[in-house]
Amino acid sequence: MNDKQRVAQHAAQHVQNGMIVGLGTGSTANLFIEELARRRTQEGLKFSAVASSTVSTIKARQLDLPLIAIDHLEHLDLYVDGADEVAPDLTLLKGRGYDLVREKLLAKACDSFLVLIDASKRVKRIGENFPIPIEVMPFAWKLVQRSVAAIGGHGSLRQTANGDGLVVTSYGSLVLDVVFDSTLDAKTLNERLNGIPGIVEHGIFNGLTGAVFCGHDGQVDELWA
Ligand code: A5P
Repeated sequence: MNDKQRVAQHAAQHVQNGMIVGLGTGSTANLFIEELARRRTQEGLKFSAVASSTVSTIKARQLDLPLIAIDHLEHLDLYVDGADEVAPDLTLLKGRGYDLVREKLLAKACDSFLVLIDASKRVKRIGENFPIPIEVMPFAWKLVQRSVAAIGGHGSLRQTANGDGLVVTSYGSLVLDVVFDSTLDAKTLNERLNGIPGIVEHGIFNGLTGAVFCGHDGQVDELWA
């Protein structure tokens, strides 16, 4: 078993009968979804799930999990997802999979947000390994790019993998990938980005983490906020 499988199984133990559980997006979240499906079949665990993206919706449907549409959600017990970076204060960078809006809605709505990573995701500061993804209204991207430049960020629209088009999110937004001056701390950056019109959502998750489960060298470290 590798570190990702180990944290996924560890997190699945936190799901109890009757819970509503948010399903994250990415390879680690997929392993969590698979473990939930296993517990449902083999242990009779009863829960409902809400997906954070089109990808996790498809995954959950393939495994026949009972899904609630996000627009019918009134309460969420637990949300379990991966992350692209985790800072020492448990601020996260998310959104390489570019379904930021639903991911942040679920992280904000849940009673407890569990983040599953391996040690490679731990960084000293947000933005160390990746640019900050910023989802923008398509007609606003140029003005947002200018507003972002005014606070020290430089970036461009995310291209499709083969480079012949632009990435478009599930809800028709474009994505600016932006590198900021390393002196700007994530909390300040979060507040400044929240204040720019035309931004639909961005990848800094500050003050939302309940716990990070980090798999390394055959064990799981729990870092609670
Ligand atoms: C999805 O938008 C991201 O926030 C993912 O949670 C992130 O990319 C983690 O993916 P892995 O578990 O595959 O590293």
